Amino acid sequence: MIDVLNIRKDFPILNTTVYGNPLIYLDNAATAQKPECVIQTVDELYRTCNANIHRGVHFMSEQCTEKYEQSREKVRRFINAEKKSEIIFTSGTTGSINMVACSFGERFVSAGDEIIISEMEHHSNIVPWQLLCERKNAVLKIISFDDNGILRIDLLDSLINEHTKIIAVTHASNVLGTINPVREIIAKAHLYNIPVLVDGAQAVPHGNVDVRDLDCDFYTFSGHKIYAPTGIGILYGKEKLLEQMPPYQGGGDMISTVTFDKTTYAQLPLKFEAGTLNFIDAIALGAAIDYVNNTGRQNIFEYEQKLLDYATQKLASIEGLKIYGEANKKVALVSFLLKNIHHLDTGMILDKKGIAVRTGTLCAEPLLTHFTQTGLVRASFAFYNTFDEIDALCENLEKISLMFK
Ligand code: ALA
Repeated sequence: MIDVLNIRKDFPILNTTVYGNPLIYLDNAATAQKPECVIQTVDELYRTCNANIHRGVHFMSEQCTEKYEQSREKVRRFINAEKKSEIIFTSGTTGSINMVACSFGERFVSAGDEIIISEMEHHSNIVPWQLLCERKNAVLKIISFDDNGILRIDLLDSLINEHTKIIAVTHASNVLGTINPVREIIAKAHLYNIPVLVDGAQAVPHGNVDVRDLDCDFYTFSGHKIYAPTGIGILYGKEKLLEQMPPYQGGGDMISTVTFDKTTYAQLPLKFEAGTLNFIDAIALGAAIDYVNNTGRQNIFEYEQKLLDYATQKLASIEGLKIYGEANKKVALVSFLLKNIHHLDTGMILDKKGIAVRTGTLCAEPLLTHFTQTGLVRASFAFYNTFDEIDALCENLEKISLMFK
């Protein structure tokens, strides 16, 4: 059970006022707020234990290294990976996908090869693959979705062929909310020995993720969307693939020995962690994972689904409001347009009432093109949001609707 009033006490920023109104933060899909324990972890580390990891024999360096590696173990357990060597710290989902597109692409993709992504990807899971296709003269193919926002996986067979080298698909859409049947997609791809990258940026914050159960080859997510600091994220990769891939970046920590004639590389996962990683925030990611685990991922899922159902019902009852994304299985977000009112007008008026929603292309321009739209309004929820906040959102939308009559 989520005790929302107590939970809200853990997030100091929720006491903020905006233009004299209490903040109603409904932009969690863009970034989530941080609990006191995460803020304190960062603060304490900088005050008491800040030294470069994997590099010193001195006390603080060893302490930081230990905490960093403990955090990697927390991530491993969090997504049920088999080995710690399969967990790579990155700067976030975008960093993780670029790493795979470059490194996997370098090793496995040649001219004429094909990569499949979906029409509902955000730009992070489109542009790195486009760059790879440009570099290698490869071809990008797209799985479309229907007008309810459901992926047309029935089309997958017609897209896969002997040239397909990888499929990259989002676990949950940041615009439609759709939770995709990634297990099914992976099983199908594996029939053809095609690896699958799952972008979990919008799925990990909302429920349980088990990479071994999914049998995905790569899984990516960002710390800042699961209550950790910005600038830290995860790439999970199956060891046998990561072993075959060349390093993504060169520098300290990713090497075994360096001479001017030849450099040999470190074992996994350090092979993919060049330079001084963002180790403070990696440790704070561990604190965020502890917080989420203590709150209970099933509790979070169930509470957020109630918020989603309530919001969907209330928003749908507003005259002239159209919801984009009507799949049965969704994460807790709703994208919409109110009559023919520009998304920026809606967003800016809500802001004046202290209500933060996202507006615009939502980092997913091709998805919006499907609906011939150039912008939407999105309300995205976390387990610290309340039903009263949804009421306030809807009341204000009703008022905006009257203003533009
Ligand atoms: N991709 C993030 C969002 O959906 C930034 O807002």
